[in-house]
Amino acid sequence: MATGGSTFTPALTWDQRSLRLLDQTRLPGEEAWIELEGAADTAAAIARLVVRGAPNIGIAAAYGLAMQIARTPADDELQAAARVLREARPTAVNLAWAVDRVQDAALAAAPEERAAAARAEAEAIHAGEDAASATIALLGADLLAGSQRILTHCNTGALACGGTGSALAVAVELAQRDDITVLACETRPLLQGARLTIWELRRAGIAHELLVDGAAAGLIRRGDIDAVIVGCDRVAANGDVANKVGTYAHALAARAGGIPFIVAGPTSTIDASIASGEEIVIEERDMDEVRHAGGALLTGADTPCRNPAFDVTPAELVTALVTERGIAAPVTRDSVLALLEAGAVPAERA
Ligand code: MRU
Repeated sequence: MATGGSTFTPALTWDQRSLRLLDQTRLPGEEAWIELEGAADTAAAIARLVVRGAPNIGIAAAYGLAMQIARTPADDELQAAARVLREARPTAVNLAWAVDRVQDAALAAAPEERAAAARAEAEAIHAGEDAASATIALLGADLLAGSQRILTHCNTGALACGGTGSALAVAVELAQRDDITVLACETRPLLQGARLTIWELRRAGIAHELLVDGAAAGLIRRGDIDAVIVGCDRVAANGDVANKVGTYAHALAARAGGIPFIVAGPTSTIDASIASGEEIVIEERDMDEVRHAGGALLTGADTPCRNPAFDVTPAELVTALVTERGIAAPVTRDSVLALLEAGAVPAERA
């Protein structure tokens, strides 16, 4: 049954001139919006995780570049702005993909048409990611029909993506069809699961439980979880998946426990230019993120830390990759590249 529909609040709004972001660093305590003007402040907001999640950092960067081009349309300024945005975060490929699309559209236009061409391309990227979300929700829910206890990691709802999200959009769709519970991992160090996923699930009225990240494997072993579904920040041509740190451990536990491990995301997250996950650059973030939780210092102020923001799950641990162009299962180089050849499945046909 296809139900679709959007349940969540968008994390960004665009009024054809300016971009407003719901500041995700302040959720769930405060719903504060900030207004952006161009490439530099958009790149800073992306780096600071005011806006986050692979598809949404692509959408925000697209608008950031379009706003900048409206102010400074010359070639060198345009390319410098694109570079600043592309370098804001290294792992999610959606960022470079979206910036390249807007840059190419602008450079292909006559100088006096550049601003309009860039804006139209950014709006097309946004609309495309919204549509992708709707299709992913329906395809993923069909795939997981009958699963009632769904584990997820990080945040993959509307705060992270166009539309209702990626992995979380699947859970939202399942909740419209069945009596399900979403088990959300808190996602240290920045607690996107505890702060953002729970905020979205509460607003959507979906039954949920919060777990510390380390609890997931034991619950899977006990038979308390039917399936794991997560998003993705970059998928290599062979299907290896970079996603929020901690994802690989869930994939290993799912394999050991004999339950499906599903990855959901738009095809803008597939990077066919890299052969495997070994080529994915993993963002290393500030050690203070590990030393603190909820603003409180947990350890020595100078305790040495490791803070990789993502990890890579090998394709052989992924049961299926759900995109708006269909599902790759098993996840192999052939099945992943076939998705890029396919057209989008319209949500009404999913
Ligand atoms: O560091 P973040 O919060 O941007 O990380 C986000 C994730 O890892 C998500 O799971 C990912 O972007 C997948 S889909 C939104």
